[in-house]
Amino acid sequence: MKKELAIITGATSGIGRGLTITLTARGITVLAIGRNTEKLAELTKLPDSIRIVPYKCDITREIDIVTVVDRVRAFNDTHELKYLVHNATVLDPIKPLTDVTAKELNMQIDVNVTGPMLLTNKLLQYFKKEARILFISTGASRTAITNVVPHCAAKAAQAILAKGYKDELKNREILAGIVEPGITDTPAQAYVRSLSSDVLPFADIARKIYNEDGLSTSADCAKLLSTLLCDVEKNKFSDIWPWQLTNKEHLEYLK
Ligand SMILES: NC(=O)c1ccc[n+]([C@@H]2O[C@H](COP(=O)([O-])OP(=O)(O)OC[C@H]3O[C@@H](n4cnc5c(N)ncnc54)[C@H](OP(=O)(O)O)[C@@H]3O)[C@@H](O)[C@H]2O)c1
Repeated sequence: MKKELAIITGATSGIGRGLTITLTARGITVLAIGRNTEKLAELTKLPDSIRIVPYKCDITREIDIVTVVDRVRAFNDTHELKYLVHNATVLDPIKPLTDVTAKELNMQIDVNVTGPMLLTNKLLQYFKKEARILFISTGASRTAITNVVPHCAAKAAQAILAKGYKDELKNREILAGIVEPGITDTPAQAYVRSLSSDVLPFADIARKIYNEDGLSTSADCAKLLSTLLCDVEKNKFSDIWPWQLTNKEHLEYLK
């Protein structure tokens, strides 16, 4: 019997790293994608690192994505692709929209939209029946947060992409879902808190939530995400749109 394979983008940090730990503890092999060589190497020191395959890939580079597909093909005799988690993201540029360059906006689109689309499309032939694709979204996809609008816009576009996969992959029995984790204590949140409110007005709110102990940890978030990814009944996985880890009704399904 083949083993289960998951691909997680942005596995070197925060929520993606937490989910890598949780899934490998469940016996799932994780192809853990990131750009940072040192952080990728650190993954090999984790408890179930025997099931972690750190993989250097910049998802904004199609040439890198092609090598991921080659790696998955090499797994084909022993593993079947069951999960793909689009988690990688960056917040920059953090500046007024009127100062944003085309290159900066394109980078946001490449990380959140073009990269996930290319990776999904190129992997299609390897997904097993009832494989699950999960997009890690954000409440920021539904609003324009001052000085982080390229990120918000790219995440909004990503949510539409996710919906497209949900509808168009139904016939192939591949499921797409989307989840908003809520504010979680990760390096990205620490970065937000480090900024002055002149640069990012939202930083004050992030500091307040942090000081009031209102953040969930990456580990807690990852536990809920692994239940959503692996255990939630298949119709529910794609029906609740988006899953929100701050929503009490949604959390009932993740117990
Ligand atoms: N933390 C929160 O409060 C929060 C709230 C709502 C939603 N989310 C969502 O949760 C997800 C994870 O966020 P996080 O807070 O855990 O962020 P994080 O700690 O900053 O981690 C981001 C990850 O993305 C990777 N990455 C960035 N650009 C990449 C690229 N071009 N190619 C490959 N990997 C790339 C980074 O790895 P390398 O540097 O190694 O490339 C890193 O592993 C994001 O989708 C975010 O929108 C987070």
